[in-house]
Amino acid sequence: MKILVVNGPNLKRLGTREPAIYGFDTLPEIMRKMSAYAAEKGVVVETFQSDVEGELVAVLGKAFASYDGIIINPAAYTHTSVAVRDAISACGLPAIEVHLSNTHKREPFRLESLTVSVCVGQVMGFGGYGYILALDGLLRHIETMKKESPR
Ligand code: DQA
Repeated sequence: MKILVVNGPNLKRLGTREPAIYGFDTLPEIMRKMSAYAAEKGVVVETFQSDVEGELVAVLGKAFASYDGIIINPAAYTHTSVAVRDAISACGLPAIEVHLSNTHKREPFRLESLTVSVCVGQVMGFGGYGYILALDGLLRHIETMKKESPR
């Protein structure tokens, strides 16, 4: 089992970026904790971060051949990007959307997610731990799908 974790713009600045909202853990620390958790379950996690919308679209476009599922924090593109939304939808893999903060407690423009409707579900408000919750949810979803339609 191999999972791709995609992180969008400004998330590489976690640790120093608005820590009152996003906490003090850096993205590599969050990804390391998640990968260690995944490894205990025999799951391989690969991670990708970009500030560039087209690079996120490109990596999602190539994911089908190599991965079983996607965990994605599209960051600001959550609220703006039809291209990222379409790339998630087209990639043909189950995806879980993650946000460190609870975007519903923030500015009104963060209320809408263009991407969540093409995801299995969404985890928000748990900081970096949300990626671990998302992994558990995604693995369970993949197992359920396999049982319902075994190849
Ligand atoms: C975020 C929430 C977004 O609204 C914001 O633009 C981000 C981070 C989060 O993880 O809480 O960059 O996706």
